[in-house]
Amino acid sequence: TYVIAEPCVDVLDRACVEECPVDCIYEGDRMLYIHPDECVDCGACEPVCPVEAIFYEDDVPAQWSEYYRANVDFFDDLGSPGGASKMGKIAKDHPLIMALPPMAA
Ligand code: F3S
Ligand code: F3S
Repeated sequence: TYVIAEPCVDVLDRACVEECPVDCIYEGDRMLYIHPDECVDCGACEPVCPVEAIFYEDDVPAQWSEYYRANVDFFDDLGSPGGASKMGKIAKDHPLIMALPPMAA
């Protein structure tokens, strides 16, 4: 799967959402999250993010390694909705993200 990491927090550019052929990039309160089982590893989202927040799971920089679990655990109570657009904004974040100070420049 691909993973969205800290640069997305409070930016939420959403360019990635437009590229994803399977609509598996879900919007939380402060960042977006890739569904690990719905992502087909097409990689289309990665180059379009203006803040370079998206990485293949094996390539997540060490300082953001916890974001793999953040993306996976975000879906603990959601299961596999099978499409982000019908969900709209989901009013929560992973605790790791909730604990961050405001990040937007
Ligand atoms: Fe976030 Fe980048 Fe997508 S900022 S919403 S991961 S385009
Ligand atoms: Fe979609 Fe990116 Fe995966 S475009 S299929 S979330 S690699």
